[in-house]
Amino acid sequence: MIVCHCLSISDHEIRAAVKWMRAADPDTIITPGKIYHALGKRADCGGCMPLFLSTMRGCEEFGVQTAQDRPPVLRSPAPAKRAIG
Ligand code: FES
Repeated sequence: MIVCHCLSISDHEIRAAVKWMRAADPDTIITPGKIYHALGKRADCGGCMPLFLSTMRGCEEFGVQTAQDRPPVLRSPAPAKRAIG
């Protein structure tokens, strides 16, 4: 389905870009601008934003993982405890 009619961007392309960005950087904040950029395009009228955002948010890979979701080797070390006294 075409989401952005100005630039002929499909829902499939948006999902693929989200998946690629998440695989490249688990901590990145994914925005419509980054997706346009990844697809080598630039937003025009912006009329597609509601559907564009909805498509992005529907992707399983859209959200940033919490520390509990990551394997132990990727978690930050626990803060050192100080001895009092
Ligand atoms: S419909 Fe997407 S920029 Fe116009």
